[in-house]
Amino acid sequence: MVCLGNICRSPLAEGIMQRKISEHGLDWQVDSAGTGAWHVGELPDRRSIATARQFGIDITNQRARQLKPHDLDRFDLVLAMDSQNYRDILRLATTKEQEEKVQLIMNFASPGRNQAVPDPYWDDEGFEKVFGMLEEACRQVVERFFRTSQTILNTSQPLCDS
Ligand code: 4NP
Repeated sequence: MVCLGNICRSPLAEGIMQRKISEHGLDWQVDSAGTGAWHVGELPDRRSIATARQFGIDITNQRARQLKPHDLDRFDLVLAMDSQNYRDILRLATTKEQEEKVQLIMNFASPGRNQAVPDPYWDDEGFEKVFGMLEEACRQVVERFFRTSQTILNTSQPLCDS
């Protein structure tokens, strides 16, 4: 999960996906990072912490970090919040395989629309909307990959929404 500062949007995305991973018993790992380095080492923005808490998710274990080229090898999927993040991530890619891992997260919720998750940093009201968008996108990511993962893990756990 990648945004600009790794303090507003991507920490919410990480927290939401972590909850889904736990709920579905998936053998997945999720992490988040920013394309920029301004907030490295910081807690998520207090408004992201409050919004996540409102929906029952604690993200205070997270600390901001900057995306590194190595992340494009470590992860199977690298989800950008907006088109600027998308372009900045692609700049780190050196192989076709790495490039193909990078996608706009909202294309899982609204395929082909290239919709951005709006940056709520300057907008106190934007955090709940961002949470809702990310919840839906993460739900679709799980929906898209759950069965593949289930086959690999050979489990029989049903996929249920929450
Ligand atoms: P994020 O939001 O990319 O969702 O973490 C931002 C956080 C910090 C800044 C911009 C966006 N900033 O300019 O410091």
